[in-house]
Amino acid sequence: MSELEDDVRLRQLQRERNARKAAETLLESKSLELYLANQQLLQLNATLEQRVHERTQELVAARDQALEASRIKSQFIATVSHELRTPLHAVISYSEMLLEDLQGAGLAQQLQDQRKIHGAAQHLQILINELLDFTKLEAGKVDADPEAIDLDELVDNLLDTLSPLAEQNGNRLEVQLAGDAGELVSDRLKLNQCLYNLLSNACKFTERGLVRLEIRRERGTDQDWLCFAVSDNGIGMDEAQLSRLFQPFSQGDSSITRKYGGTGLGLAISRGLCELLGGTIDVSSTPGQGSCFRMRIPAVLPTHPPAPETAPLKEDHDASA
Ligand SMILES: Nc1ncnc2c1ncn2[C@@H]1O[C@H](COP(=O)(O)OP(=O)(O)OP(=O)(O)O)[C@@H](O)[C@H]1O
Ligand SMILES: [Mg+2]
Repeated sequence: MSELEDDVRLRQLQRERNARKAAETLLESKSLELYLANQQLLQLNATLEQRVHERTQELVAARDQALEASRIKSQFIATVSHELRTPLHAVISYSEMLLEDLQGAGLAQQLQDQRKIHGAAQHLQILINELLDFTKLEAGKVDADPEAIDLDELVDNLLDTLSPLAEQNGNRLEVQLAGDAGELVSDRLKLNQCLYNLLSNACKFTERGLVRLEIRRERGTDQDWLCFAVSDNGIGMDEAQLSRLFQPFSQGDSSITRKYGGTGLGLAISRGLCELLGGTIDVSSTPGQGSCFRMRIPAVLPTHPPAPETAPLKEDHDASA
């Protein structure tokens, strides 16, 4: 091998050595970077876990506080309603006695005034009962009590109670009960209350129109359903009103409250009761044309085992009464 070849080989070796060294240095620095990044990640992970833990604790505490506040609120409303109902009951009873006396004595002007007092007291009683029903439902203190329901009888009772309301606004009340509606096992009083709320709304928000209740059976693979459709051709609702429907204390707008009164609890109670019966309520409506509320409940509501004992709310009124 010539001296020149030796020299070339030596330079090549030196170049390779230098290149390897540079690669090793780069690898070392990259490894260090990786190590540091990994350490930072581990630290971040630990901090994150700690923060998630702390946040979870805060949320649990906030939820417990909210539940406790809700329980106290329900208890407060139940107590106040109970205390209000007792004297109110006396006012209504005495005002009924006075009405009879005034009628007997032929005192027309006093009779008219007394009728207003009696009407206002009855209205107040309805509001207090609604408030109490809603509180009980919200607190999960209402149970369903299934029994075989005679649909003809249910319809007759509804017609009896609602006819005066329908007449007040010159409405025609019509019921269509399908011949094959069949057997229904559910909570009669609660179903009655839902239908009463829907029908009384239809009568209230319709003038010289038609209020219809349609009952039919819907056959399913697992179970059958009973469908109740309450329709009217009254004032109807727009999209904004529909989006607020079923929320407690929510009414169409302030003009509705002024013109029609009420508390805006009827639909919230109806939905709560309907869900208790295993069902659903939905609605379609067009402003100026009318509304249709559809309620669907299982044809046979299973009897549940009694719920575990909890402290009762202080009152004697049942949501279904
Ligand atoms: N059939 C209907 N036609 C038009 N608007 C309706 C109808 N039913 C309900 N609404 C609207 O929904 C609102 C809420 O109804 P909901 O029954 O909850 O309360 P309310 O009838 O105003 O008062 P309450 O039932 O507590 O006496 C009503 O104020 C009204 O604006
Ligand atoms: Mg109502």
